[in-house]
Amino acid sequence: MACSSAFGQDAVRFLPDKKLWVLDTQRSSYVFGVNERNQLQHVYWGQKLWRDADLAAVHSREEWASFDGIASTTPGEYAGWGSNMYTEPCLKVTLADGNRDLVLGYVSQELHGDTLQVVTKDIQYDLFATIFYRVYPEAGVIEKHAVIENKTSQPITLESAQAGTWYVPPGEGYRLSYLTGRWAGETQLIQEDIHPGVKLLESRRGTTSHQTNPWFAIDAPDGNGPRADQEHGRVWFGALGWSGSWKFTVEQTPHRQVRVTGGYNTFDFAYPLQPGERLETPPFYGGFSDGGFGEASRLLHHFTREFILPTAKARPVLYNSWEATEFNVDEPGQKALAEKAARIGVERFVMDDGWFGARNTDHAGLGDWFVNPKKFPNGLQPLIQYVNGLGMDFGIWVEPEMVNPDSDLYRKHPDWAMNFPGRPRTEARNQLILNMARDDVKEYTFGWLDKLVSENRIAFLKWDMNRNFSEPGWPEAGPANEKKIWVKYTSNVYEIIDRLRAKHPKLEIESCSGGGGRVDLGIMKRTDEVWTSDNTEAYDRLRIQEGFSYAYPAQVMMAWVTDAPNYNGRTTPLKFRFLVAMMGSLGIGNNLNKWSGEDFALATKMIAYYKTIRNTVQRGQLYRLFSPREGDLTANQYVSKDGKQAVLFAFLRSQQYGRLAPTIRWRGLEEHAVYRVKALDPGKLVEKLDTVSGAYLQNHGLDLSLVGDYDSTSVLLERLESH
Ligand code: GLA
Repeated sequence: MACSSAFGQDAVRFLPDKKLWVLDTQRSSYVFGVNERNQLQHVYWGQKLWRDADLAAVHSREEWASFDGIASTTPGEYAGWGSNMYTEPCLKVTLADGNRDLVLGYVSQELHGDTLQVVTKDIQYDLFATIFYRVYPEAGVIEKHAVIENKTSQPITLESAQAGTWYVPPGEGYRLSYLTGRWAGETQLIQEDIHPGVKLLESRRGTTSHQTNPWFAIDAPDGNGPRADQEHGRVWFGALGWSGSWKFTVEQTPHRQVRVTGGYNTFDFAYPLQPGERLETPPFYGGFSDGGFGEASRLLHHFTREFILPTAKARPVLYNSWEATEFNVDEPGQKALAEKAARIGVERFVMDDGWFGARNTDHAGLGDWFVNPKKFPNGLQPLIQYVNGLGMDFGIWVEPEMVNPDSDLYRKHPDWAMNFPGRPRTEARNQLILNMARDDVKEYTFGWLDKLVSENRIAFLKWDMNRNFSEPGWPEAGPANEKKIWVKYTSNVYEIIDRLRAKHPKLEIESCSGGGGRVDLGIMKRTDEVWTSDNTEAYDRLRIQEGFSYAYPAQVMMAWVTDAPNYNGRTTPLKFRFLVAMMGSLGIGNNLNKWSGEDFALATKMIAYYKTIRNTVQRGQLYRLFSPREGDLTANQYVSKDGKQAVLFAFLRSQQYGRLAPTIRWRGLEEHAVYRVKALDPGKLVEKLDTVSGAYLQNHGLDLSLVGDYDSTSVLLERLESH
């Protein structure tokens, strides 16, 4: 076994006499075993346990009257729906012979380093469910997924295939945190008490969705210690790696058991397996922290950067022409913007929608992925060469999964759009969805993308998806297989991206879906960043970005500075807009043709400042100090991995009665270290500090003179010495 956790024990251990598995990360333990009925039973997940002798073999819980049998009172580790089970199962099946009862028993195990495979099988049929666990000891995360295999001689239909169930220790009064929203208002953090019953978090839209994001956290009740805050308390969290329809069933059973089951959405789900076929569920990642929501986020950020994202490096500063030009792109216009972008320090120039086919509005052209000859008479080369000559690399917008009915592609292949024959095809933004579940559509899509990237020096694709499924028919698959579309669509999109990246290893990709409609750990495995929201208004962004930060790292969070007044009529100072965007991966989306000399000067200064701190922001540790949900002040702080740099961002919505903004007590510093203070605006420090100790900043705190409406500033610390 490769990796060791604390106390010199292996990260995954099997205790044969008790038939228990212990999965240890550096901060948590996860225990399950085989009970007297030969079924997998959950035992524990939470703070680290260290003494194997404390653990006893597992036994089913008692029946509670005749109404709650042991199948419902016992915490099944990966339970099939069978017997008298009434809680959410991980697997539900119908066999061709009519049987719908599934009871999984333990068969065998294999252990490879930090990966454990536990094979289970129905008590009668050769229907296998192999549950995989991978432990990431240093990241504090455990990954689960299952592979369902039909080794019987008859067809089986899976009606539910979940990645697994997470249990928090039995009790009541837990609180659920989750991220919800809508287009232009994504990742709003909701926190609510968990009561007996079921709370469903899901997407039925064929994609991850703006409306709910596949992440949850549960914090511990009063009585066993305080409710968690940023720094204290027990927090269990999980995130699903899947960009299709998904579902989390959060239950509190009548027997004080809180459990979260997650995987493919079961709505309209039916996945037939012929003899010999298998289905793999998406991975479900879970972690535990006893250092509050702050540490929970930092663990998940670290895990995502180190083990999910394809690239480990900080993101370049990007310019995108969309908000400046919308569809009116052409060679001279793009060159003019590129020249200005290079002047302020931009490193990547991205041309957005409008460069292909007859794409002059959103009514036509999607599907016709050839360069529009009127806008670019000599193709893309002259623009790309010009951009490269200015020292920037070049990126381009694509929306591969879509087609406008007004396009050559649709006129040629109307059957490629998702549809039920003879029935209406509902358009959204005047477009239909190409059925990516079809292998011919997949091959066609890979083909043109590969050609585009092979023939042009394209460093980056902004991969958009501007609508959700409707009429999700797949007539060519035949009635028995049509519902496989919910899985196959997404796995084919993944395959296209994977093949493209394999063939073009330097290519980077952003996942965009009308903003943050496809943000999850599945897409992040194969893309480098995500578009957080089409809402780029800086004050609205504070909350969108705060919610986003609970689950995902700043490195992937694209944040643009755009023009004011924004869509909602709000005007904030350019500096405020810059500082909000600098808490993520910075992009500029302004119409640079309208900027004053002063705007250029400020932008040049802010981008230069950003370049000195971006590693800390994108790849360091985040401390949320003041929440935009709770008052007029928002403050976030980031500390670099090596502790040598720390940076604070502070934003005041409105000052009333001339009151001083609350004192900011820093976090994550070394109390005995001395730091050099480099304030972006030295005048905003109430006390003039050139150097200061970590102890002073963390205990006494820092007062900033933030005045009026939408004031903002940033303070940078550099560690000088430790005592
Ligand atoms: C979506 C994206 C925008 C932009 C437009 C182009 O709305 O989220 O950033 O690319 O499409 O049509």
